[in-house]
Amino acid sequence: MRWIRAAGRGLLVAAVVIAGCVSSGAGAGGPSAEGARGGGRGPVTLATAGVLTGYLEPLLEGWNRGHPGERVTLVELPDSADETRAQMTTELRSGAGRFDILNIDVAWTSEFAAAGWIAPLERGRFPLDSFLPPVVDTATYEGRLYAVPYVTDAGMLYYRKDILDREGERPPGSWAELERQARTIAPRYGIGGYAGQFLPYEGLTVNATEAVYSAGGTVLGGDGRVTLDSPAARTGIGFLARGVRDGWIPEEALGYKEEESRQAFQDGRLLFLRNWPYAYAGASGPGSRVAGKFGAVPLPGPHGAGTSVLGGSNLAVSTGARHPETAGDLIAYLTSAPVQRKVLTEGALPPVRAALYQDPALIREFPYLPALRKSVLAAAPRPKSARYEQVSLAVQAVVHDAMAQHQGPDAAVRRLSGELAAIARRG
Ligand code: GLC
Repeated sequence: MRWIRAAGRGLLVAAVVIAGCVSSGAGAGGPSAEGARGGGRGPVTLATAGVLTGYLEPLLEGWNRGHPGERVTLVELPDSADETRAQMTTELRSGAGRFDILNIDVAWTSEFAAAGWIAPLERGRFPLDSFLPPVVDTATYEGRLYAVPYVTDAGMLYYRKDILDREGERPPGSWAELERQARTIAPRYGIGGYAGQFLPYEGLTVNATEAVYSAGGTVLGGDGRVTLDSPAARTGIGFLARGVRDGWIPEEALGYKEEESRQAFQDGRLLFLRNWPYAYAGASGPGSRVAGKFGAVPLPGPHGAGTSVLGGSNLAVSTGARHPETAGDLIAYLTSAPVQRKVLTEGALPPVRAALYQDPALIREFPYLPALRKSVLAAAPRPKSARYEQVSLAVQAVVHDAMAQHQGPDAAVRRLSGELAAIARRG
């Protein structure tokens, strides 16, 4: 595992200017990317959000050694999902064709497909039957495959095992227990109670959606109708807002993304943390004050098990891709069994291949795999919408206001329902 990542901002590993080589015509065709422009083979770029565990570039070197005429160059964008999305869409709208393969958040497939930025793919070209079932759905839009699942994700609750053991307590199985322990135990150790990703960005949309789902609520129905306004949504948003009001969610957490929250936990400043599985490796590694002192359990809900949002990313071929055949082959390589194994062992990211979750050697190395598999299988997707960006921005803004105590949970849920309905009407 390589923890080469400098803390903080993403860095552009390689900004590639492509020497004018978008071939004209050719339209549909090609076994891998039906709609992509141009054809054939040659160098490609792969644009991705910040690779927090620094594993991807060495992995792509494996491909480059075997494909000297079809080299891939990694373009690493910022850590924050929203900033990455903004850079990708600016590029795609400009038609500059700088990004051939896009590693997109699972939440964006519908929007990128509806906008015509990514090309439909041939299902038979990729080993979809070997993947965990829920991930395949995140790669489809209106019944067609527009991307190939690459990494999956489900939220977990990290807890300080050393402290809970000393207090004779078990990790919380419900919000009530989490709240009690965070409120009463954390202050005795001079640390914060609970944090997640609460800065207004996609991470807050995830945390808020998980809170609503865990309380039994929904955001949008399958037909795009707004279904948010419910007692469950008020319970979910109320849980997060109350944490800040009563002090068991530290105020700094309102500025946390994944990395800031991981750092706070591994510096020993938090009793509980909601984060993705990648944080396990960092918190176990050198430089962590909590290595060997923490555990991870599935997310709790109000009275028992909670519901995680399904995270992760899919690989898509841009409609402006210069070499869609190579792009398709590279995607097949990145989703092959040996590379997917490395996604876990080198990248600490949850692979999409189901068999890896039952591999005894991997389970010994990553003891959370069986629990993670269950969480992924039970995770719920974010609302599917061709206007997903607007949906997410509305959720972030309103929930952040509620957590900052600018608006009570009831008013926040009413306001958010109204905003989501207005977005749906525009769609
Ligand atoms: C993780 C998830 C992704 C999610 C993002 C939010 O990267 O895999 O799906 O949108 O976090 O910050």
